[in-house]
Amino acid sequence: MNSNGRTALVTGAAGGIGAAVAHSLLAAGLRVCLTDRDEAGLEREAARLRALHGERPVLFARMDVDRPDEVEDVHRTLGEAWGAVDVLVNNAGIFDERPFLEIEEEGFRRVLETNLLGAVRCCRVFGRDMVERGSGKIVNIASISAWRGAPRAAHYAASKAGLVALTLTLAREFAERNVQVNVVLPGYIDTGMMGHRRGVMLKYAAWRVPAGRLGRPEDVAEAVRLLVVADTSYLTGAQLVVDGGCSLG
Ligand code: NAI
Repeated sequence: MNSNGRTALVTGAAGGIGAAVAHSLLAAGLRVCLTDRDEAGLEREAARLRALHGERPVLFARMDVDRPDEVEDVHRTLGEAWGAVDVLVNNAGIFDERPFLEIEEEGFRRVLETNLLGAVRCCRVFGRDMVERGSGKIVNIASISAWRGAPRAAHYAASKAGLVALTLTLAREFAERNVQVNVVLPGYIDTGMMGHRRGVMLKYAAWRVPAGRLGRPEDVAEAVRLLVVADTSYLTGAQLVVDGGCSLG
């Protein structure tokens, strides 16, 4: 795929990994629409990226992936502005920490709603165009918890395992339409999502992660960029782990 002038949409792009992905795709020559439910963060991030990459390749739009109407609205307005999306990065996600027996059904549902159904919605709306046109790439951001589980975050791990299964299924369904679907599984990445666990995680990473540090958002963004710029329709259904070696045991 020739990246120049291609259009990417990144969800959850107001900060952390999503913002780094937007930056790295812009640097690779794509036009990027940043979306998030956090409007203030989105405006800040879009202004920062416009200062780095110019006004023209950067759009931003409020889009809460929990809300089908907002996904449809962005599909329509972005379509009018730039045409169909060539690259979709499903990155928006939430984390919640509590023991399994203390997670009410509603809490479980809330995490699945954003982390899994949010991606499902975007794949349906933006992926449909890709399938119809016979070209496109989707990258989902899961987590190594999809493979390893996550003590005190069963709902999070289940949502990410669902996202991996979604990826593998869509990779198979969409391959004949020249749409590649891959998933990135980050390990412990130093973003706002770490919250109060950051101090503990810094020590854990120095001790237990072979790379000797927490991941940076840019580490994940680089993996996404590789999958997006790869000029082959054969790279699909890949599960790319970005964890400094920590899931190797
Ligand atoms: P973050 O909290 O910095 O960023 C998440 C972004 O998603 C925020 O900007 C937030 O406003 C947005 N968001 C949340 N719910 C949304 C919704 N319903 N609609 C639209 N936007 C929404 O966290 P981070 O670390 O950048 O996370 C990005 C992705 O990476 C998430 O899917 C997360 O699960 C995944 N991940 C993060 C890891 C880490 O250690 N930080 C490890 C493995 C995966």
